[in-house]
Amino acid sequence: MDTVDFTKMEDMTFDETQMLNEKYVDHAQSNLQTQLLNLLVSMKGPTLGYQIDRYRHSLQSATRVLRNGEETEMVVAALFHDVADPIAPENHSAAAAEIIKPYVSERIFWVIRHHGLFQGYYYFHHLGGDRNAREKFREHKWFDDCEYFCHEYDQNCFDPKYNELALEEFEPLVKEVFAEKRIVSIGELA
Ligand SMILES: [Fe+2]
Ligand SMILES: [Fe+2]
Repeated sequence: MDTVDFTKMEDMTFDETQMLNEKYVDHAQSNLQTQLLNLLVSMKGPTLGYQIDRYRHSLQSATRVLRNGEETEMVVAALFHDVADPIAPENHSAAAAEIIKPYVSERIFWVIRHHGLFQGYYYFHHLGGDRNAREKFREHKWFDDCEYFCHEYDQNCFDPKYNELALEEFEPLVKEVFAEKRIVSIGELA
């Protein structure tokens, strides 16, 4: 069987579900990394007033993490920390964090999830906001990690003179991190 007979899921059979699941998993497994890398590449071009584009910003972030000797999961998280910018401009931290969640530790998920708010320390006050908005998380066990990420791997990654690595250098690391957990099913199994 290559195609289902149903037009409404309420008529879906056991065999159809097995077939669909297998196709979905194979497709997702082989396409996810390419899709994410393509999304990064899509940020090439517009600098939006900065001195470099968001593609270079992402590479600089990942390069700094790598050169600082951090774990591979953190390198990949840095590479993708702004990957949701083009598709979720109002909530890019949450969207990027959810994308990498199955493949990274809880700590790294938390850091990426909150990096937008923590990064606001450097500019919220210039927009009439509160640069210390992140203080509400002061007692959180990963506050320092997120503060460090923003200071060392984000706010300082807008440098046209920085010698960042090429995307190809990160591809084996992306492969390694994403291979650790195989996609198992359509949607979310309860
Ligand atoms: Fe960001
Ligand atoms: Fe960033």
